[in-house]
Amino acid sequence: MKARLLLALMAVAAGGCTTLDDRTCPPDSKLTYESFGKGFFERECVWCHGGAKGQSARSFTTVESIRSQKERIFVNAAADNRAMPPGPDGPSDADRQRLAEWLACGAP
Ligand code: HEC
Repeated sequence: MKARLLLALMAVAAGGCTTLDDRTCPPDSKLTYESFGKGFFERECVWCHGGAKGQSARSFTTVESIRSQKERIFVNAAADNRAMPPGPDGPSDADRQRLAEWLACGAP
């Protein structure tokens, strides 16, 4: 019974969530790590996700570390996903859309 409830809750959560697979890279995308990713992560994430110095062991201080975790980053922070950063303040909708586009393009 408990397991069934958990499965139902997971289905609801998954249904309301945009994932990396839902996005395609627009052919004219101009976002790069230098022009967008670096500044975004340094501003919004790295004070917690900076490895040893942050709240989380998960580190987003290099483009490689971001690429290797891009599915989890997407479902937590990109497009309409709002789980990260925790709390009411965070990136603007426009920045969350830019993050979605940049990750969909493979975080170039
Ligand atoms: C106030 C501190 C804080 C900020 C800012 C923050 N995070 Fe987190 N984040 C955490 C903590 C704490 C956890 C839970 C521990 C863990 O999984 O490492 C976490 C977990 C995560 C996870 C793993 C959860 C999962 O379901 O896979 C991802 C991905 C993530 N954060 C992405 C981000 C992104 C992207 C940003 C910036 C837009 C961000 N976080 C900003 C504190 C923060």
